[in-house]
Amino acid sequence: MRKIVAAIVVSVILVSCSTTDSGPAVKFKDGEQAVPAGYKSWPKFLMNVQRGDAKQVRDIYVNPIGARAQKGQAFANGTIMVMENYAAKPGADGKLIKGELLRVFVMGKGDGWGGSAPQGLKNGDWVYAAYLADGVTKAPEPAVTCRACHLPLTKVDYVHRYDEYFATRDGGVFTRPAGGGY
Ligand code: HEC
Repeated sequence: MRKIVAAIVVSVILVSCSTTDSGPAVKFKDGEQAVPAGYKSWPKFLMNVQRGDAKQVRDIYVNPIGARAQKGQAFANGTIMVMENYAAKPGADGKLIKGELLRVFVMGKGDGWGGSAPQGLKNGDWVYAAYLADGVTKAPEPAVTCRACHLPLTKVDYVHRYDEYFATRDGGVFTRPAGGGY
């Protein structure tokens, strides 16, 4: 009998640790999701995003679960996006030249993760984390600032470059709406 109980306990542990399409069984809160090892080999979301206003260039990656999303859909639970923020300065042609890595930002979503959001700042089931260039040391930016700035984007699953991603991934041309939006 004891053996059977032990077997059940072991299998429950195994099941609860496994990763499925509905996302990992662990529920992350803001600041908890680590920078995933090997994210640089993930599908590219957008590279070399020019942020002249912030004097930065950004490279964004999405994990394979997220890359399966189709335009018009929300990203599935289990999606993770990693954004590298680089210092940059304008080159002779006006394009920004990438300098040192400043920050690594992570946003991920999983079943029920949004439940931990502070009141009024629930971005669906996304949670946020920010790291210094080493990808390990927590950055000082509080996650509520991430939430506040991504919050209005309800129509595009809280993802700023949603339209640009699908347009360029699917071989189209992206025209930035007049007046910016970014
Ligand atoms: C002031 C507004 C603002 C704040 C604050 C902000 N973001 Fe964003 N975020 C953006 C914009 C705009 C983009 C699109 C890329 C770009 O233009 O730099 C973006 C893109 C991203 C992306 C890539 C997916 C996407 O939405 O296109 C991730 C991941 C991300 N942000 C994470 C974070 C995290 C983590 C924080 C907090 C530490 C944060 N962001 C804070 C505005 C913001």
